Amino acid sequence: MQKKVIIIGAGGHAKVIADIVVNSNDQLVGFLDDNLDKQDMVIFDNKKVLGTINQDIINKYNDCYFIIGIGDNEIRKKIANQYPNLKYYTAIHPNAVIGNEVEIDAGTTIMAGVVINPGARIGKHCIVNTSASLDHDNNLEDYVHISPGAHLAGTVIIKEGTWICTGVTIINNITINSWNIIAAGATIIKDINDTNCTFINTINSIKKQK
Ligand SMILES: CC(C)(COP(=O)(O)OP(=O)(O)OC[C@H]1O[C@@H](n2cnc3c(N)ncnc32)[C@H](O)[C@@H]1OP(=O)(O)O)[C@@H](O)C(=O)NCCC(=O)NCCS
Repeated sequence: MQKKVIIIGAGGHAKVIADIVVNSNDQLVGFLDDNLDKQDMVIFDNKKVLGTINQDIINKYNDCYFIIGIGDNEIRKKIANQYPNLKYYTAIHPNAVIGNEVEIDAGTTIMAGVVINPGARIGKHCIVNTSASLDHDNNLEDYVHISPGAHLAGTVIIKEGTWICTGVTIINNITINSWNIIAAGATIIKDINDTNCTFINTINSIKKQK
């Protein structure tokens, strides 16, 4: 059955989610955004910002599904905690390849070109961005963002709220703790136990000659 969908947020990330909604043959209703300059603005597919994010407008559209289309992991968590009882939409681009026995929780977005192999588990309000890949048995906790072109080998665990930036490579059997940032292009070969840190890791020297 076709779902009616409202996107919370009206920036670039929200636009990509809107495109997924339309490509999934669901019905894009509009956007909510607290930026007063964006009210009534057309964002995508002739659909507008319908209002700020508030309980009254959510009650008005109580036949709709909602998805938080904001890239910042902490903001997604804050909004999800503020509105825990919404019907959250899960946006999966039709050109994503999702293996068997993969679990994807409500409110998560899987973008075009993503490959997710069997046994992976993805929590609530995550983002798996364009052309990223998650190999078998990965486990992403809630509010994780895997940015475009990042590649995670098998059995990688990413704890809550961590942001894996674009082009990151993570070898198999690695665990990365919560609310970290792994900078663009990093290659992760050891577990990360710290939390709330940024890791910048450029491999640019030969450590050991074969
Ligand atoms: C990790 C990141 C968020 C850090 O941003 P920041 O905290 O603002 O860091 P700064 O830009 O102040 O950089 C701090 C230092 O780290 C270096 N640095 C930052 N990112 C780096 C990277 N990815 N690789 C290597 N060095 C990096 C900077 O050159 C700077 O070095 P300096 O002090 O010698 O000048 C950012 O650099 C990054 O990698 N962004 C990727 C964004 C992305 O993937 N977006 C996709 C959205 S869908």
